[in-house]
This record gives sequence, structure tokens and C-alpha cells, in this order.
Amino acid sequence: MAKTPVKTKKVKISEKTKKGAILLQAPKGMHDILPEDQPWWNRVRKVADTIADFYNFQRIDTPILENMEIFERGVGNTTDIVEKEMFVARTKGGDQLVLRPENTAGIMRAYLEHGLSRLPQPLKLYYLGPFFRHERPQAGRYRQFHQGGFEIIGGDDDPLYDAQIILATYRFIEELKVKNLVIQINSIGCRVCRPTYKRKLLEYYKKFENKLCKDCRRRIEINPLRLLDCKNESCEALKADAPVMVNHLCSACRNHFKLDLEYLDELGLPYALSHYLVRGLDYYNRTVFEIYAEGIPSALGGGGRYDYLAEILGGRKSPLPAVGSAPGIERIIEVMKAQGVPGISKPRAKIFLIQIGDPAKKKALGLLEKFREADIKVIESLGKESLSTQLKIANKEEVQLALLLGQREVFEDNIIIRDMKSGNQETVPLSKVVDEVKRRL
Ligand code: HAM
Repeated sequence: MAKTPVKTKKVKISEKTKKGAILLQAPKGMHDILPEDQPWWNRVRKVADTIADFYNFQRIDTPILENMEIFERGVGNTTDIVEKEMFVARTKGGDQLVLRPENTAGIMRAYLEHGLSRLPQPLKLYYLGPFFRHERPQAGRYRQFHQGGFEIIGGDDDPLYDAQIILATYRFIEELKVKNLVIQINSIGCRVCRPTYKRKLLEYYKKFENKLCKDCRRRIEINPLRLLDCKNESCEALKADAPVMVNHLCSACRNHFKLDLEYLDELGLPYALSHYLVRGLDYYNRTVFEIYAEGIPSALGGGGRYDYLAEILGGRKSPLPAVGSAPGIERIIEVMKAQGVPGISKPRAKIFLIQIGDPAKKKALGLLEKFREADIKVIESLGKESLSTQLKIANKEEVQLALLLGQREVFEDNIIIRDMKSGNQETVPLSKVVDEVKRRL
């Protein structure tokens, strides 16, 4: 029977189940999305489709599993994601597959594998799906979570595309009615200017090496940019006086960043320069950004330019301009709920079919098909026998009309239409019931 979602109560199951019993719990950090939550997901899916459609992004779906090297090389060996957070599955043949922790590397793999550069460039792609990171679960941080994503690949590296990615991501979250958004933005330069900046960072952090956490002490020589991303308290404190990238940008990167900001100004989007924003993935160059809702500490989405990723994956001999972003769906839904934004429930049925007795029950399924063909939603409770129980359910569902099919009606090829508000009933021929209902709706 089609029912309105019922609020469910979480049953607390003791960690120590009886010997041999199965632990009835989803894996740590992973969640069921129950019928009562679906209205918010419906809204997210609808807005994602509408925004993608408006800005001309085409849907792409890639496998949940990818070869491990795609992330080791693409996202970077010294990132938290690759070092600590990947769910790895070894196949019987010995391949190492990974439950995708993000999608940009997989999308680039698909772009290169299928020669998508033959299509009109740049190619604009979007997706919505589950991702997996073995993190310590806490509010807004899960082991299975969902991202939407927008990627623009190919063409040239015009900052207009950076602005369009930021715009689409911002509008997506804004259309979900999340209030008080702000874009944090930075440029992390290119192959020409970043090495100088890295050296400056190294010089700075070397002075405080004994204050750094274990991970940062290890990473300082390999990738000092990672130190700016560390959440450890003593490392965070050191960040305040670290050199900033924008002071070391080459003229091409400075110009690119300036134009990018001018586009945002022109669009009237609220942004703040965030000098130490480097993002936790290694494939970025030039623009990086994150979107926050005021008062919420974790980012609702983030992204940036990744012109070197195609080369890093071995699919190109020169950079391939690309820029993209991914909003985190769980975090956005949490803010929507906190800010009182409703989800979208499926339209309620206005008709309830009541059947009494075996002959009526037999006719019921066929009759429902007639309504399906006419695109009229009808709910029922075919498992129930008594008239009063079925009427009670019809009342609860607040339908406009109930259709009553009893033994006598089946025998006479009729059906009763009952107006639930007035209680008026009328018997009509079964063959005309769809038209009669249409007339009354
Ligand atoms: P990311 O910053 O790692 O970027 O993730 C994007 C968003 O996903 C985050 O801002 C956050 O909202 C959400 N998110 C990340 N990890 C979790 C988690 N454990 N639990 C809940 N939500 C989470 C990327 O993944 C890049 N691929 C984005 C991108 C696309 N860059 C270019 N194109």
C-alpha cells in the first residue's frame, strides 16, 4: 500500500549481541536513507537536475570502484584521502580496487579512456552519487556520503569557467534554500610559481619543526602545502604567520585569479579571500574554493582548477584545462533541516480503493491498472478485509474519493464512488469509473 512516510524510531541494539546473532547495524559511519528522509533527497535530486540542465552539464555515472592508482596518482600519495582513508578491495585476480573517495580522478579517467576530447569542448559533466572515506565518523563527516559534482573539462583555461563552476555550485546550494552562504577562495599557482612558494613555506616551517605534528614533520619535505591543510591545533596555530601564495603568484596566475574575482564581482557572488586554503587533494592548480554557510564550520562544497590531472594520470603530454567542484549532500541536507527548509514529498493520492470479499479483491489489481494508464494515483490496502478498517485508512490518508467494490458491485459490474467530505455515494458502471473519477477531481 502507498503510505505517507512514517516517523521511525531508532532501536538501540546492544553492541554485545548474543553469541551467533548478527549485529543489526549499518557499518560505522554509514547510514540508511529512510523513507522519512527521502523528501529532502528528492529536493536535492530535482535541484541538481535543474541546475545542471540550465548550465548545460551532461550527466555522467562512473563505477563505484576504481583502480587504486587512479587515486594514488590523481589525488596524491601524501594526501589524507590516499594515506589513511581509502576502502581497498583486493579482487581474486590480485587487482586492488578502491571504493571511490571522490570523483574527479574517475571522471578524468573516463574522459581519457573514452576519448571524450572528440566531443565539442569544453565538456561539461555532472554527477550525484555515493563516496567512501574511512574517516573518524562525527557530525558532517561520514564513511559513506554523497556528493553532487560539476566538472568542465577541455577547451581553454579561461577564468570564466572557474566562475561558472563556482556559480553553478553556489546556485545549487542556494536553490536548496540554504541561507547566508559565503565562498572562500584562493589561488595556489602553477608549476612556474608554486615551487618558489613551497620553498618559502619550507623555510618557514623548518624553524618550527619540533612544534609540528607527526604527519606534518613527515610531509614537510615532500609536500609542504599539506601543512596548511593540517587540522592539528599546534600546526593550525603556526599557519597564521606562514607566507601566503597570492604574494608569490607568477604574472599569468595573478592575472587569471584577478579575472576570476572580477567575474565573481560582476555576478555579485559573496566571496572572501582565504590565503591558506589549499584543499586536501593534490591535483589542484590556480583557483581553489569552498562554500560555507555562516555559523557552520564544515564546508558544504569545494573544488578548483586541475589542469595537470590528465597528465598526472598519464593520458596527456601537456596540461588539459579543467575545473570542477563537489557539494556534499549530507552536510547540505543537515543545514536545510536546521534552517527549516522542507523536502519535497511525492504528490498525495486523492483516491482510495476499498475492496470487500474475494471477488472484489480479484478485480482490484486490474482496476488499479486502468487508473495507472490514465495517470491517476490510487492508493489501497489490499491486505485488509473489513470495510471499517479500510475506510479508517482512507480517512487518515485524507483522500477526496473512496471507491467501494463489494461482492454485489462485482456481480452487477458497478462500483460505488464515495465523496469522503460529504459522505455522498453514487453507483456507476465499472467500465466508466475512470471517467467518472476524472470528472470529480
Ligand atoms: P572534497 O572537498 O574532498 O572535494 O569534498 C567535497 C565536499 O564533499 C566537501 O566540501 C564536503 O561537503 C563533502 N564531504 C567530503 N568528505 C565528506 C565526509 N567524509 N562526510 C560527509 N561529507 C563529506 C572533492 O571531493 C573534489 N573531488 C571536488 C572537486 C570536483 N574538485 C574538482 N572537481
